[in-house]
Amino acid sequence: MAQPRELWNSRIGLVLATAGNAIGLGNFLRFPVQCAQNGGGAFMVPYFVALLLFGIPLMWCEWAMGRHGGVKGHGTTPGIFYHLWHHPLAKYLGVFGILITFGVGVYYLYVMSWTLAYSFFSLTGKYMGITSEAEMSLFLSSFQGVKDSTYFQGYGYTYLFYLISLGLVIYVLSRGVVKGLERLAKYGMPVLFIFGIILVVRVFTLGTPDPALPDNSINAGLGFMWNPNFSTLKDPKVWLAAAGQVFFTLSVGFGAIQTYASYIRKKDDVALNGLSTAATNSFAEIILGGSIGIPIAVAFFGVAGTMTVAQGGAFNLGFQAMPLIFQQMPFGQLFGTIWFFLLFVAGITSAVAITQPFMAFLQDEFQLTRGKATAITGFLLFALGQPVIFFLKYGFLDDMDFWLGTFGVTFFACVEIVVFVWLFGPRNAWKELTDGADIKIPRIFFYILTYVTPILLFILLGTWLYQSGIDTILMRNVAKADLPYVIGVRVMLLLMLIGMGIGIKYSFTHDRLLKRGVIREVRK
Ligand code: TRP
Repeated sequence: MAQPRELWNSRIGLVLATAGNAIGLGNFLRFPVQCAQNGGGAFMVPYFVALLLFGIPLMWCEWAMGRHGGVKGHGTTPGIFYHLWHHPLAKYLGVFGILITFGVGVYYLYVMSWTLAYSFFSLTGKYMGITSEAEMSLFLSSFQGVKDSTYFQGYGYTYLFYLISLGLVIYVLSRGVVKGLERLAKYGMPVLFIFGIILVVRVFTLGTPDPALPDNSINAGLGFMWNPNFSTLKDPKVWLAAAGQVFFTLSVGFGAIQTYASYIRKKDDVALNGLSTAATNSFAEIILGGSIGIPIAVAFFGVAGTMTVAQGGAFNLGFQAMPLIFQQMPFGQLFGTIWFFLLFVAGITSAVAITQPFMAFLQDEFQLTRGKATAITGFLLFALGQPVIFFLKYGFLDDMDFWLGTFGVTFFACVEIVVFVWLFGPRNAWKELTDGADIKIPRIFFYILTYVTPILLFILLGTWLYQSGIDTILMRNVAKADLPYVIGVRVMLLLMLIGMGIGIKYSFTHDRLLKRGVIREVRK
Protein backbone atom coordinates (compact mmCIF):
# COMPACT_ATOMS: atom_id res chain seq x y z
CA MET A 1 0.00 0.00 0.00
CA ALA A 2 1.10 3.53 -0.61
CA GLN A 3 2.83 5.51 2.10
CA PRO A 4 0.46 8.04 3.70
CA ARG A 5 0.56 11.54 2.27
CA GLU A 6 0.86 14.59 4.47
CA LEU A 7 -2.08 16.97 4.95
CA TRP A 8 -2.08 20.66 5.80
CA ASN A 9 -2.41 21.20 9.51
CA SER A 10 -4.92 24.06 9.51
CA ARG A 11 -7.00 26.09 7.13
CA ILE A 12 -5.15 29.28 7.95
CA GLY A 13 -1.88 27.49 7.28
CA LEU A 14 -3.22 26.28 3.97
CA VAL A 15 -4.42 29.72 2.93
CA LEU A 16 -1.12 31.34 3.92
CA ALA A 17 0.89 28.66 2.16
CA THR A 18 -1.04 28.95 -1.10
CA ALA A 19 -0.90 32.73 -0.86
CA GLY A 20 2.85 32.36 -0.37
CA ASN A 21 2.94 30.12 -3.40
CA ALA A 22 1.24 32.68 -5.62
CA ILE A 23 2.70 35.89 -4.16
CA GLY A 24 6.24 36.15 -5.38
CA LEU A 25 8.69 38.18 -7.37
CA GLY A 26 6.01 38.35 -10.03
CA ASN A 27 3.87 40.60 -7.85
CA PHE A 28 6.56 43.11 -6.98
CA LEU A 29 8.98 43.02 -9.91
CA ARG A 30 7.22 41.62 -12.94
CA PHE A 31 3.84 43.28 -12.49
CA PRO A 32 4.99 46.92 -12.29
CA VAL A 33 7.32 46.41 -15.22
CA GLN A 34 4.65 44.77 -17.37
CA CYS A 35 2.27 47.53 -16.44
CA ALA A 36 4.70 50.31 -17.37
CA GLN A 37 5.81 48.58 -20.57
CA ASN A 38 2.22 48.31 -21.69
CA GLY A 39 1.15 51.84 -21.01
CA GLY A 40 0.11 51.93 -17.35
CA GLY A 41 -3.66 52.30 -17.13
CA ALA A 42 -3.84 50.79 -20.58
CA PHE A 43 -2.74 47.50 -19.12
CA MET A 44 -5.18 47.27 -16.26
CA VAL A 45 -8.31 46.69 -18.34
CA PRO A 46 -7.03 43.55 -20.14
CA TYR A 47 -5.44 42.52 -16.88
CA PHE A 48 -8.75 42.40 -15.02
CA VAL A 49 -10.47 40.70 -17.92
CA ALA A 50 -7.72 38.06 -18.01
CA LEU A 51 -7.99 37.60 -14.27
CA LEU A 52 -11.70 36.89 -14.59
CA LEU A 53 -11.67 34.76 -17.72
CA PHE A 54 -8.38 32.86 -17.38
CA GLY A 55 -6.97 33.33 -13.94
CA ILE A 56 -9.82 32.47 -11.61
CA PRO A 57 -11.25 29.64 -13.75
CA LEU A 58 -7.83 28.01 -14.09
CA MET A 59 -7.20 28.46 -10.40
CA TRP A 60 -10.42 26.62 -9.64
CA CYS A 61 -9.64 23.83 -12.09
CA GLU A 62 -6.19 23.33 -10.61
CA TRP A 63 -7.49 23.23 -7.06
CA ALA A 64 -10.17 20.73 -8.02
CA MET A 65 -7.68 18.58 -9.92
CA GLY A 66 -5.26 18.69 -7.03
CA ARG A 67 -7.80 17.47 -4.49
CA HIS A 68 -9.00 14.80 -6.92
CA GLY A 69 -5.46 13.49 -7.36
CA GLY A 70 -4.40 13.86 -3.76
CA VAL A 71 -7.22 11.66 -2.55
CA LYS A 72 -5.92 8.97 -4.89
CA GLY A 73 -2.30 9.44 -3.85
CA HIS A 74 -1.01 11.74 -6.62
CA GLY A 75 0.04 15.35 -6.18
CA THR A 76 1.28 16.02 -9.70
CA THR A 77 -0.26 16.13 -13.13
CA PRO A 78 0.98 12.76 -14.50
CA GLY A 79 -0.97 10.91 -11.84
CA ILE A 80 -3.86 13.36 -11.87
CA PHE A 81 -4.32 13.14 -15.64
CA TYR A 82 -4.08 9.35 -15.37
CA HIS A 83 -7.23 9.35 -13.27
CA LEU A 84 -9.07 12.04 -15.20
CA TRP A 85 -8.64 10.69 -18.68
CA HIS A 86 -8.35 6.95 -19.11
CA HIS A 87 -5.95 6.90 -21.97
CA PRO A 88 -2.38 5.58 -22.09
CA LEU A 89 -1.15 9.03 -23.15
CA ALA A 90 -2.72 10.91 -20.26
CA LYS A 91 0.12 10.35 -17.81
CA TYR A 92 2.69 11.49 -20.36
CA LEU A 93 0.78 14.72 -21.03
CA GLY A 94 1.18 15.38 -17.35
CA VAL A 95 4.95 15.50 -17.70
CA PHE A 96 4.74 19.21 -18.49
CA GLY A 97 3.40 19.89 -15.03
CA ILE A 98 6.63 18.70 -13.48
CA LEU A 99 8.92 19.95 -16.24
CA ILE A 100 7.61 23.52 -16.14
CA THR A 101 7.55 23.87 -12.38
CA PHE A 102 10.94 22.35 -11.85
CA GLY A 103 12.53 24.18 -14.77
CA VAL A 104 11.20 27.55 -13.65
CA GLY A 105 12.31 26.68 -10.12
CA VAL A 106 15.87 26.30 -11.35
CA TYR A 107 16.17 29.93 -12.43
CA TYR A 108 13.63 31.41 -10.03
CA LEU A 109 15.90 30.33 -7.22
CA TYR A 110 18.80 32.23 -8.72
CA VAL A 111 16.85 35.45 -9.14
CA MET A 112 15.57 35.09 -5.61
CA SER A 113 19.14 34.86 -4.35
CA TRP A 114 19.83 38.33 -5.83
CA THR A 115 17.14 39.79 -3.61
CA LEU A 116 18.80 38.31 -0.54
CA ALA A 117 22.14 39.72 -1.68
CA TYR A 118 20.67 43.16 -2.34
CA SER A 119 18.99 43.18 1.02
CA PHE A 120 22.42 42.59 2.50
CA PHE A 121 24.00 45.28 0.28
CA SER A 122 21.32 47.76 1.38
CA LEU A 123 21.96 47.00 5.01
CA THR A 124 25.70 47.38 4.66
CA GLY A 125 25.43 50.36 2.31
CA LYS A 126 27.42 48.72 -0.44
CA TYR A 127 25.74 50.58 -3.29
CA MET A 128 25.63 53.89 -1.44
CA GLY A 129 27.19 56.65 -3.46
CA ILE A 130 26.26 55.24 -6.84
CA THR A 131 24.11 57.90 -8.42
CA SER A 132 23.74 57.05 -12.08
CA GLU A 133 21.67 54.45 -13.84
CA ALA A 134 24.72 53.28 -15.78
CA GLU A 135 26.84 52.76 -12.67
CA MET A 136 24.02 50.91 -10.95
CA SER A 137 23.69 48.68 -13.97
CA LEU A 138 27.41 47.95 -13.79
CA PHE A 139 27.02 47.17 -10.10
CA LEU A 140 24.31 44.63 -10.93
CA SER A 141 26.10 42.98 -13.82
CA SER A 142 29.39 42.73 -11.99
CA PHE A 143 27.56 41.24 -9.02
CA GLN A 144 26.14 38.66 -11.41
CA GLY A 145 29.63 37.89 -12.64
CA VAL A 146 28.85 39.17 -16.11
CA LYS A 147 31.50 41.92 -16.01
CA ASP A 148 34.28 42.78 -13.63
CA SER A 149 34.25 46.16 -11.91
CA THR A 150 35.59 47.83 -8.82
CA TYR A 151 32.47 46.63 -6.99
CA PHE A 152 32.80 42.91 -7.67
CA GLN A 153 35.15 40.57 -9.47
CA GLY A 154 34.16 37.11 -10.54
CA TYR A 155 31.29 35.04 -9.29
CA GLY A 156 32.13 34.94 -5.58
CA TYR A 157 29.28 37.01 -4.14
CA THR A 158 26.56 35.85 -6.42
CA TYR A 159 27.56 32.25 -5.88
CA LEU A 160 27.62 32.63 -2.13
CA PHE A 161 24.11 34.04 -2.02
CA TYR A 162 22.94 31.40 -4.45
CA LEU A 163 24.23 28.65 -2.19
CA ILE A 164 22.61 30.20 0.87
CA SER A 165 19.28 30.43 -0.96
CA LEU A 166 19.55 26.91 -2.29
CA GLY A 167 20.37 25.64 1.20
CA LEU A 168 17.34 27.38 2.68
CA VAL A 169 15.00 25.99 0.05
CA ILE A 170 16.37 22.48 0.48
CA TYR A 171 16.01 22.78 4.23
CA VAL A 172 12.35 23.82 3.99
CA LEU A 173 11.58 21.03 1.52
CA SER A 174 13.27 18.48 3.72
CA ARG A 175 10.97 19.40 6.62
CA GLY A 176 7.88 18.48 4.66
CA VAL A 177 4.49 20.03 4.12
CA VAL A 178 3.48 20.97 7.66
CA LYS A 179 6.80 21.68 9.34
CA GLY A 180 8.40 23.10 6.23
CA LEU A 181 6.02 24.75 3.77
CA GLU A 182 3.25 25.61 6.22
CA ARG A 183 5.53 26.94 8.93
CA LEU A 184 7.51 29.06 6.50
CA ALA A 185 4.29 30.64 5.28
CA LYS A 186 3.03 31.25 8.82
CA TYR A 187 6.08 33.35 9.59
CA GLY A 188 6.78 34.68 6.12
CA MET A 189 3.40 35.97 5.03
CA PRO A 190 2.78 38.30 7.99
CA VAL A 191 6.29 39.71 7.52
CA LEU A 192 5.60 40.21 3.85
CA PHE A 193 2.35 42.07 4.45
CA ILE A 194 3.78 44.24 7.21
CA PHE A 195 6.82 45.18 5.15
CA GLY A 196 4.62 45.79 2.15
CA ILE A 197 2.35 48.13 4.07
CA ILE A 198 5.31 50.00 5.58
CA LEU A 199 6.67 50.60 2.10
CA VAL A 200 3.34 51.69 0.68
CA VAL A 201 2.88 54.20 3.49
CA ARG A 202 6.38 55.52 2.90
CA VAL A 203 5.75 55.83 -0.83
CA PHE A 204 2.41 57.58 -0.38
CA THR A 205 3.94 60.16 1.92
CA LEU A 206 6.65 61.12 -0.54
CA GLY A 207 4.42 63.59 -2.38
CA THR A 208 6.55 65.52 -4.86
CA PRO A 209 10.16 64.77 -3.92
CA ASP A 210 11.67 67.51 -6.07
CA PRO A 211 9.63 70.75 -5.96
CA ALA A 212 11.43 71.93 -9.09
CA LEU A 213 9.79 69.07 -11.01
CA PRO A 214 6.11 69.24 -10.02
CA ASP A 215 5.08 66.68 -12.63
CA ASN A 216 7.10 63.98 -10.95
CA SER A 217 4.92 63.02 -8.04
CA ILE A 218 3.30 60.05 -6.39
CA ASN A 219 -0.04 61.36 -7.62
CA ALA A 220 1.18 61.35 -11.18
CA GLY A 221 2.39 57.78 -10.66
CA LEU A 222 -0.97 56.64 -9.37
CA GLY A 223 -2.67 58.45 -12.21
CA PHE A 224 -0.42 56.70 -14.71
CA MET A 225 -1.54 53.35 -13.35
CA TRP A 226 -5.16 53.96 -12.72
CA ASN A 227 -6.47 56.17 -15.52
CA PRO A 228 -7.93 53.49 -17.74
CA ASN A 229 -7.22 53.59 -21.40
CA PHE A 230 -9.63 51.65 -23.54
CA SER A 231 -7.83 52.27 -26.80
CA THR A 232 -5.35 49.48 -26.08
CA LEU A 233 -8.10 46.89 -26.13
CA LYS A 234 -7.42 46.61 -29.83
CA ASP A 235 -3.76 45.73 -29.36
CA PRO A 236 -3.19 41.95 -29.11
CA LYS A 237 0.24 42.49 -27.57
CA VAL A 238 -1.22 44.10 -24.49
CA TRP A 239 -3.65 41.20 -24.16
CA LEU A 240 -0.86 38.67 -24.40
CA ALA A 241 1.16 40.50 -21.81
CA ALA A 242 -1.83 40.74 -19.47
CA ALA A 243 -2.68 37.06 -19.79
CA GLY A 244 0.97 36.12 -19.31
CA GLN A 245 1.17 38.19 -16.16
CA VAL A 246 -2.02 36.64 -14.78
CA PHE A 247 -0.64 33.13 -15.32
CA PHE A 248 2.69 33.96 -13.78
CA THR A 249 1.43 35.79 -10.76
CA LEU A 250 -1.31 33.31 -9.87
CA SER A 251 1.08 30.40 -10.52
CA VAL A 252 -1.55 28.87 -12.82
CA GLY A 253 -0.67 26.91 -15.94
CA PHE A 254 2.45 25.52 -14.29
CA GLY A 255 1.09 22.47 -12.50
CA ALA A 256 2.02 23.81 -9.08
CA ILE A 257 -1.31 24.69 -7.50
CA GLN A 258 -2.38 21.06 -7.89
CA THR A 259 0.40 19.92 -5.62
CA TYR A 260 -0.56 22.27 -2.79
CA ALA A 261 -4.21 21.37 -3.26
CA SER A 262 -3.39 17.67 -3.14
CA TYR A 263 -2.65 17.90 0.58
CA ILE A 264 -6.28 18.48 1.56
CA ARG A 265 -9.04 16.01 2.37
CA LYS A 266 -11.70 14.69 0.05
CA LYS A 267 -14.41 16.68 1.83
CA ASP A 268 -12.49 19.95 2.01
CA ASP A 269 -13.54 22.97 0.02
CA VAL A 270 -11.73 24.02 -3.13
CA ALA A 271 -14.00 26.80 -4.42
CA LEU A 272 -13.42 29.28 -1.62
CA ASN A 273 -9.78 28.26 -1.23
CA GLY A 274 -9.15 28.86 -4.92
CA LEU A 275 -10.90 32.20 -4.86
CA SER A 276 -9.09 33.37 -1.76
CA THR A 277 -5.73 32.38 -3.22
CA ALA A 278 -6.50 34.54 -6.23
CA ALA A 279 -7.88 37.38 -4.12
CA THR A 280 -4.96 37.50 -1.70
CA ASN A 281 -2.55 37.42 -4.58
CA SER A 282 -4.36 40.21 -6.39
CA PHE A 283 -4.32 42.31 -3.26
CA ALA A 284 -0.58 41.83 -2.93
CA GLU A 285 -0.07 42.53 -6.60
CA ILE A 286 -2.29 45.51 -7.22
CA ILE A 287 -2.39 47.22 -3.86
CA LEU A 288 1.12 46.48 -2.64
CA GLY A 289 3.07 45.70 -5.81
CA GLY A 290 1.32 48.40 -7.79
CA SER A 291 1.75 51.07 -5.14
CA ILE A 292 5.48 50.73 -4.71
CA GLY A 293 7.47 50.33 -7.92
CA ILE A 294 5.55 52.55 -10.30
CA PRO A 295 4.50 55.50 -8.16
CA ILE A 296 7.95 55.81 -6.66
CA ALA A 297 9.63 55.61 -10.05
CA VAL A 298 7.30 58.24 -11.49
CA ALA A 299 7.93 60.49 -8.50
CA PHE A 300 11.66 60.41 -9.12
CA PHE A 301 11.99 59.87 -12.88
CA GLY A 302 8.65 61.03 -14.30
CA VAL A 303 6.30 59.00 -16.48
CA ALA A 304 8.59 58.96 -19.51
CA GLY A 305 11.60 58.05 -17.40
CA THR A 306 9.68 55.20 -15.77
CA MET A 307 8.68 53.81 -19.11
CA THR A 308 12.32 53.90 -20.22
CA VAL A 309 13.38 52.06 -17.08
CA ALA A 310 10.70 49.45 -17.70
CA GLN A 311 11.74 48.95 -21.31
CA GLY A 312 15.15 47.96 -20.02
CA GLY A 313 13.73 44.65 -18.81
CA ALA A 314 12.24 42.87 -15.87
CA PHE A 315 14.99 43.59 -13.38
CA ASN A 316 15.81 47.22 -14.14
CA LEU A 317 13.14 48.68 -11.96
CA GLY A 318 13.79 46.50 -8.94
CA PHE A 319 17.56 46.21 -8.92
CA GLN A 320 18.66 49.47 -10.53
CA ALA A 321 16.04 52.17 -10.23
CA MET A 322 14.98 51.33 -6.69
CA PRO A 323 18.48 51.43 -5.17
CA LEU A 324 19.01 54.83 -6.81
CA ILE A 325 15.75 56.09 -5.39
CA PHE A 326 16.36 54.81 -1.88
CA GLN A 327 19.53 56.83 -1.67
CA GLN A 328 17.56 60.00 -2.21
CA MET A 329 15.21 59.28 0.68
CA PRO A 330 15.79 59.79 4.40
CA PHE A 331 16.53 56.39 5.98
CA GLY A 332 16.96 55.05 2.48
CA GLN A 333 19.26 52.29 3.61
CA LEU A 334 16.59 50.97 5.93
CA PHE A 335 13.86 51.14 3.28
CA GLY A 336 16.18 49.48 0.79
CA THR A 337 16.76 46.62 3.18
CA ILE A 338 13.03 46.28 3.77
CA TRP A 339 12.28 46.33 0.05
CA PHE A 340 14.77 43.62 -0.86
CA PHE A 341 13.93 41.51 2.15
CA LEU A 342 10.27 41.72 1.21
CA LEU A 343 11.25 40.44 -2.22
CA PHE A 344 13.25 37.66 -0.66
CA VAL A 345 10.36 36.51 1.53
CA ALA A 346 7.97 36.68 -1.41
CA GLY A 347 10.54 34.74 -3.43
CA ILE A 348 11.29 31.94 -1.03
CA THR A 349 7.66 31.09 -0.29
CA SER A 350 7.25 30.74 -4.06
CA ALA A 351 10.52 28.92 -4.64
CA VAL A 352 9.57 26.12 -2.28
CA ALA A 353 6.17 25.88 -3.93
CA ILE A 354 7.63 25.60 -7.36
CA THR A 355 9.99 22.79 -6.40
CA GLN A 356 7.50 20.87 -4.28
CA PRO A 357 5.76 19.28 -7.31
CA PHE A 358 8.96 17.49 -8.26
CA MET A 359 9.36 16.36 -4.65
CA ALA A 360 5.77 15.15 -4.64
CA PHE A 361 6.33 13.31 -7.90
CA LEU A 362 9.26 11.41 -6.42
CA GLN A 363 7.45 10.69 -3.17
CA ASP A 364 4.07 9.76 -4.66
CA GLU A 365 5.09 7.85 -7.74
CA PHE A 366 8.38 6.29 -6.64
CA GLN A 367 7.49 5.94 -2.99
CA LEU A 368 10.75 7.59 -2.03
CA THR A 369 11.19 8.86 1.49
CA ARG A 370 11.19 12.62 1.96
CA GLY A 371 14.90 12.54 2.67
CA LYS A 372 15.74 10.81 -0.58
CA ALA A 373 13.37 12.98 -2.57
CA THR A 374 14.97 16.08 -1.07
CA ALA A 375 18.45 14.87 -1.90
CA ILE A 376 17.56 14.22 -5.54
CA THR A 377 15.64 17.48 -5.91
CA GLY A 378 18.43 19.48 -4.29
CA PHE A 379 21.11 17.90 -6.41
CA LEU A 380 19.24 18.48 -9.67
CA LEU A 381 18.36 22.05 -8.73
CA PHE A 382 22.01 22.72 -8.12
CA ALA A 383 23.32 20.94 -11.21
CA LEU A 384 20.85 22.53 -13.61
CA GLY A 385 21.38 25.89 -11.97
CA GLN A 386 25.03 26.03 -13.03
CA PRO A 387 24.47 26.99 -16.68
CA VAL A 388 21.88 29.53 -15.54
CA ILE A 389 24.51 31.23 -13.38
CA PHE A 390 27.49 31.00 -15.67
CA PHE A 391 25.74 31.58 -19.00
CA LEU A 392 23.56 34.42 -17.78
CA LYS A 393 25.22 36.85 -20.16
CA TYR A 394 24.30 34.71 -23.15
CA GLY A 395 20.65 34.91 -22.27
CA PHE A 396 20.36 31.39 -20.87
CA LEU A 397 17.93 32.46 -18.17
CA ASP A 398 15.78 34.48 -20.55
CA ASP A 399 15.61 31.60 -22.94
CA MET A 400 14.53 29.15 -20.29
CA ASP A 401 11.93 31.66 -19.24
CA PHE A 402 10.68 31.93 -22.79
CA TRP A 403 10.22 28.18 -23.20
CA LEU A 404 8.79 27.44 -19.81
CA GLY A 405 7.33 30.68 -18.51
CA THR A 406 5.81 32.01 -21.72
CA PHE A 407 5.26 29.21 -24.19
CA GLY A 408 5.09 26.38 -21.66
CA VAL A 409 2.41 27.82 -19.43
CA THR A 410 0.12 28.95 -22.24
CA PHE A 411 0.42 25.53 -23.83
CA PHE A 412 -0.02 23.65 -20.59
CA ALA A 413 -3.00 25.77 -19.55
CA CYS A 414 -4.69 24.58 -22.77
CA VAL A 415 -3.77 20.98 -22.04
CA GLU A 416 -5.03 21.15 -18.47
CA ILE A 417 -8.37 22.62 -19.26
CA VAL A 418 -8.97 20.22 -22.12
CA VAL A 419 -8.16 17.24 -19.92
CA PHE A 420 -10.14 18.46 -16.94
CA VAL A 421 -13.16 20.05 -18.56
CA TRP A 422 -13.56 18.38 -21.92
CA LEU A 423 -12.12 14.90 -21.46
CA PHE A 424 -13.10 14.36 -17.85
CA GLY A 425 -16.41 15.96 -18.81
CA PRO A 426 -17.88 19.39 -18.01
CA ARG A 427 -20.41 17.97 -15.57
CA ASN A 428 -17.82 15.93 -13.72
CA ALA A 429 -15.50 18.91 -13.60
CA TRP A 430 -18.24 21.15 -12.25
CA LYS A 431 -19.15 18.57 -9.63
CA GLU A 432 -15.51 18.21 -8.64
CA LEU A 433 -15.27 21.96 -8.19
CA THR A 434 -18.48 22.49 -6.27
CA ASP A 435 -18.31 19.41 -4.00
CA GLY A 436 -17.74 20.47 -0.43
CA ALA A 437 -17.67 24.11 -1.52
CA ASP A 438 -17.95 26.81 1.12
CA ILE A 439 -19.25 29.33 -1.41
CA LYS A 440 -21.70 29.07 -4.23
CA ILE A 441 -19.98 29.61 -7.52
CA PRO A 442 -22.36 31.40 -9.91
CA ARG A 443 -23.66 29.06 -12.56
CA ILE A 444 -22.33 31.28 -15.31
CA PHE A 445 -18.89 29.96 -14.51
CA PHE A 446 -19.99 26.55 -15.69
CA TYR A 447 -20.28 28.03 -19.17
CA ILE A 448 -17.16 30.11 -18.82
CA LEU A 449 -15.18 27.02 -17.82
CA THR A 450 -16.67 24.83 -20.48
CA TYR A 451 -16.51 27.18 -23.44
CA VAL A 452 -15.08 30.61 -22.87
CA THR A 453 -11.84 29.83 -21.07
CA PRO A 454 -10.72 26.92 -23.28
CA ILE A 455 -11.56 28.69 -26.52
CA LEU A 456 -9.89 31.93 -25.43
CA LEU A 457 -6.85 29.96 -24.35
CA PHE A 458 -6.51 28.43 -27.79
CA ILE A 459 -6.92 31.84 -29.40
CA LEU A 460 -4.26 33.17 -27.05
CA LEU A 461 -1.83 30.39 -27.89
CA GLY A 462 -2.47 30.80 -31.60
CA THR A 463 -2.10 34.58 -31.59
CA TRP A 464 1.04 34.36 -29.57
CA LEU A 465 2.59 31.75 -31.87
CA TYR A 466 1.72 33.85 -34.88
CA GLN A 467 2.92 37.14 -33.39
CA SER A 468 6.23 36.27 -31.85
CA GLY A 469 6.42 32.60 -31.06
CA ILE A 470 7.40 31.35 -34.49
CA ASP A 471 10.26 33.82 -34.83
CA THR A 472 11.65 32.86 -31.49
CA ILE A 473 11.23 29.16 -32.06
CA LEU A 474 13.03 29.40 -35.39
CA MET A 475 15.72 31.53 -33.73
CA ARG A 476 15.28 34.31 -36.31
CA ASN A 477 16.56 37.09 -34.07
CA VAL A 478 19.34 35.30 -32.25
CA ALA A 479 22.84 36.80 -32.36
CA LYS A 480 25.37 34.37 -33.75
CA ALA A 481 27.45 34.32 -30.59
CA ASP A 482 24.44 33.31 -28.51
CA LEU A 483 23.38 30.48 -30.79
CA PRO A 484 25.17 27.64 -28.95
CA TYR A 485 23.51 28.72 -25.72
CA VAL A 486 20.07 29.03 -27.22
CA ILE A 487 20.50 25.51 -28.54
CA GLY A 488 21.94 24.47 -25.19
CA VAL A 489 18.76 25.51 -23.42
CA ARG A 490 16.71 23.44 -25.81
CA VAL A 491 18.91 20.40 -25.39
CA MET A 492 18.78 20.71 -21.64
CA LEU A 493 15.01 21.04 -21.57
CA LEU A 494 14.62 18.16 -23.99
CA LEU A 495 16.78 15.95 -21.81
CA MET A 496 14.75 16.91 -18.77
CA LEU A 497 11.59 16.11 -20.68
CA ILE A 498 12.88 12.70 -21.75
CA GLY A 499 14.21 11.91 -18.29
CA MET A 500 10.90 12.76 -16.66
CA GLY A 501 9.02 10.85 -19.35
CA ILE A 502 11.07 7.76 -18.59
CA GLY A 503 10.39 8.30 -14.91
CA ILE A 504 6.67 8.30 -15.63
CA LYS A 505 6.88 5.19 -17.77
CA TYR A 506 8.79 3.36 -15.10
CA SER A 507 6.66 4.44 -12.15
CA PHE A 508 3.35 3.75 -13.84
CA THR A 509 4.00 0.10 -14.68
CA HIS A 510 1.23 -2.33 -13.90
CA ASP A 511 3.10 -3.97 -11.04
CA ARG A 512 3.97 -0.75 -9.31
CA LEU A 513 0.47 0.64 -9.53
CA LEU A 514 -0.90 -2.65 -8.24
CA LYS A 515 1.46 -2.66 -5.32
CA ARG A 516 0.48 0.88 -4.37
CA GLY A 517 -3.20 0.11 -4.60
CA VAL A 518 -3.77 2.59 -7.42
CA ILE A 519 -5.30 -0.22 -9.46
CA ARG A 520 -6.82 -3.50 -8.35
CA GLU A 521 -6.16 -6.97 -9.73
CA VAL A 522 -9.13 -8.19 -11.73
CA ARG A 523 -9.96 -11.78 -10.79
CA LYS A 524 -10.57 -14.15 -13.63
N1 TRP B 1 3.52 33.26 -8.79
C1 TRP B 1 4.90 33.43 -8.53
C2 TRP B 1 5.26 34.90 -8.53
O1 TRP B 1 4.41 35.73 -8.65
C3 TRP B 1 5.79 32.75 -9.51
C4 TRP B 1 5.37 31.41 -9.91
C5 TRP B 1 5.00 31.06 -11.13
C6 TRP B 1 5.25 30.29 -9.09
N2 TRP B 1 4.65 29.75 -11.13
C7 TRP B 1 4.78 29.26 -9.90
C8 TRP B 1 5.46 30.07 -7.76
C9 TRP B 1 4.54 28.02 -9.40
C10 TRP B 1 5.19 28.83 -7.25
C11 TRP B 1 4.73 27.81 -8.05
O2 TRP B 1 6.39 35.23 -8.40
